[in-house]
Amino acid sequence: MATVFRTLALCLLCLPAVSAAAMEPRTNYMINCQGCHLADGRGKAGSVPSMKGELHKFLTVPGGREFLVQVPGSANAPLNDAELAELLNWMLGSMSGTSSNSFSPYTEAEVKKLRAKVLVDVMKTRERLVRQFAENK
Ligand code: HEC
Repeated sequence: MATVFRTLALCLLCLPAVSAAAMEPRTNYMINCQGCHLADGRGKAGSVPSMKGELHKFLTVPGGREFLVQVPGSANAPLNDAELAELLNWMLGSMSGTSSNSFSPYTEAEVKKLRAKVLVDVMKTRERLVRQFAENK
């Protein structure tokens, strides 16, 4: 019986650590995104586009800020709006090149609003945005 209590007490001690870790954007990325996007965001040639040094470019064209939230990988992630906002901010900062320091971070309220709209044609929207920022170079 003592062992059971000791085990229970130990488990309870672990709980705050586990839930705090689940909130960490890096951890959320590892669990939910890295399988496709890889650890550094470079993706998989031919199937998953690279975000490395690229992601912030979406913020430079109209509709791009919305797209990063509405793309299925983001919108359908098992994360709440605050976690998704934090995750996108972390991704923009950590894998998207130096100019990403200058973006205004997503907030929970913004993600909630954008996430409520379903992106109908993901590929077409993406192509349009990429064409736009390529032309802006
Ligand atoms: C099953 C593979 C897969 C997983 C898992 C995944 N993604 Fe993606 N992601 C893609 C693909 C493929 C695209 C290109 C657009 C599309 O076809 O949806 C993409 C595009 C994106 C983009 C836009 C960047 C661009 O260049 O198009 C963002 C932002 C993004 N994903 C975020 C996430 C986040 C955040 C997670 C985890 C919570 C995640 N993705 C999980 C496959 C995935």
